[in-house]
Amino acid sequence: MIHIDINTLPINKQFRRQLIKPDTWLIIPFDQDMAVPHPHVIIGEEKALVMDTTYTTLPLRKYIEECVTDKPLVVACSHSHFDHTDANWQFNDCPIYMSQSAWEEISARRKGGTTPFGAPPKGDYIPIILKPGDVIDLGNREIEVIPYTGIHSNTSLFYLDKKYGVLFTGDEIECGQMLVGGRPGSPSCIELLRDNLVTLIRDWGDQIDCICPPHNGSPIHGSFLGLLVENCERILSGIQGDPDVGSMTYLYNPAEARSEEMIKRALADPKSFRSEWKGTSIVYNIDRVFKSQVQ
Ligand SMILES: [Fe+2]
Repeated sequence: MIHIDINTLPINKQFRRQLIKPDTWLIIPFDQDMAVPHPHVIIGEEKALVMDTTYTTLPLRKYIEECVTDKPLVVACSHSHFDHTDANWQFNDCPIYMSQSAWEEISARRKGGTTPFGAPPKGDYIPIILKPGDVIDLGNREIEVIPYTGIHSNTSLFYLDKKYGVLFTGDEIECGQMLVGGRPGSPSCIELLRDNLVTLIRDWGDQIDCICPPHNGSPIHGSFLGLLVENCERILSGIQGDPDVGSMTYLYNPAEARSEEMIKRALADPKSFRSEWKGTSIVYNIDRVFKSQVQ
């Protein structure tokens, strides 16, 4: 078999792109690490927005500028996690949007702290802080930050493209597995996830045509939200998931970024389960099902 070093290929071979909606692209980098999430590019009449730069080591900005759009670039971050933000340095001189809590986490890491997954991030940009109700106007294309309480991360923001009904959710909603995380003191639990989803459908459902997550497949039809509610209801009714929580993109991934010890611990955790239902998958802890358990 011929081994090809991806770094030696021309820029238009290091990535591929897939059209989601008019002027809306999914960008797929050919990193060796199959866990690298996928950025999206949303193009307006005046600017183009890069949703999650990821942690690709390939020249993402160069690819976008040469092969996707010649509009000035801005960046938005779905949440703080390193695999969504560590390539922000490539866009150091562009406006970069994120939540206040995401900025607190990233600036703490920049000062020398590290996460279990990565070293301090490169770059010295100062972001523009967003909150629900804020709008990024790309020129005849408005991206609104809509309310959502993060379950996967308390740094999450949801961005709704009002023109084409595309919702960008980061890791909060996706097909492979939704990880209901939670450090001590966090309110994350299945009951809160269910309530979040019901509120999202009630208040914004008629404006959401599709959902574009960075991991495990984009786009997803908006009706996926209702199936997730069903999955939550099953867990809340006492139907327990599979004790094997791993998948080919979580813990079993050959290029998994987590340490061997952490993977073994996660796979052997007697309190963690994977609940699969109609294409949805939720990885949760039995100590984080009801609100009464985490209050
Ligand atoms: Fe994440």
